[in-house]
Amino acid sequence: MIKSLTLRRPDDMHLHLRDGAMLAAVAPESARDFARAIIMPNLAPPIATMAQAEAYRARIMAALPKGAQFEPLMTLYLTETTDPADVARAHSSGLIKAVKLYPAGATTNSHGGVRDLGQVMPVLEKMADIGLPLCTHGEVTTPQVDIFDREAVFIDTVLDPLRRRLPQLRVVMEHITTQEGVSYAAEGPNLAATITTHHLILNRNHLLVGGIKPHYYCLPVAKREKHRQALLRAATSGHASYFLGTDSAPHVDALKEHACGCAGCFTATNTMPLLAHIFEQEGALNQLEAFTSQNGAAFYGLPQNEAQITLIKSAQPTVFPTKILSQAGPVTVFDPGFAVHWQVQA
Ligand code: NCD
Ligand code: ZN
Repeated sequence: MIKSLTLRRPDDMHLHLRDGAMLAAVAPESARDFARAIIMPNLAPPIATMAQAEAYRARIMAALPKGAQFEPLMTLYLTETTDPADVARAHSSGLIKAVKLYPAGATTNSHGGVRDLGQVMPVLEKMADIGLPLCTHGEVTTPQVDIFDREAVFIDTVLDPLRRRLPQLRVVMEHITTQEGVSYAAEGPNLAATITTHHLILNRNHLLVGGIKPHYYCLPVAKREKHRQALLRAATSGHASYFLGTDSAPHVDALKEHACGCAGCFTATNTMPLLAHIFEQEGALNQLEAFTSQNGAAFYGLPQNEAQITLIKSAQPTVFPTKILSQAGPVTVFDPGFAVHWQVQA
């Protein structure tokens, strides 16, 4: 061992666990290193009611390895027929920690999402009243707007007007990918942003130069290098507005390596070693704990985790599994394309 680093156990504030065979395969991958995770509700059909979230939580608990210390933090999928009273009950019972806004058509299983924000104002007003955060997939879906501009246009035309209308609403800008997202998130109050592991590593060249890399395709799509640099500065700044949400999103290889491949990178298995590598490279290992274990809990009003994990750095590169095998088929583990010497101590 040439270095070690002990942190409070991290939280993953944006995670896709899926259901059934995929849930069984990927839940242990997150439970190994993470204490808690905000669980995304974009199943088919979506987790849109308190009753559905309760049942889904039970399926997640059943999929965890014996003795796992992992708490799923549930969310509801916002639809144009969401009942504000159901949301309020799910919140006051302690079951849910957020509601997720998917603009209809923006990403995987988002067709049941929101077309007209006017339709969901009663829900958003209730959330502002009770202090329940809204997590946003921040991309417009207007066909005329270029896919690389969809985040910045969302901020200007949807998010900023919404926050002016409901300044008390607490908002998490999920998986920001642009310098515009980084700057806007710092404008607070009542605002924060998650940043993924893969967006700290990839720019759009990694996705497209030398052949299309389906396992680097995710939404929002990776942007230019200057945007990746802005994300790196934000994540390593220690600033309370930014925290980890891996957006680890498993799809079987057959659907990634496909003529119309699914969006999502699967990073649950190796996120912490990859982040240690990146933060060390930026000379910011001392900010890793704020990013992975403190800022998110603080925004969500959760206690800081008392348990710890230790990352160790060896002279030998770490060998990660290349695939996780599920009954639904293999899932490729994110390959950063460089050697990583960090690992989480067992
Ligand atoms: C996510 C998925 O597959 O559910 N995909 C992705 O590329 N990030 C959905 C999402 O968060 O956009
Ligand atoms: Zn996601």
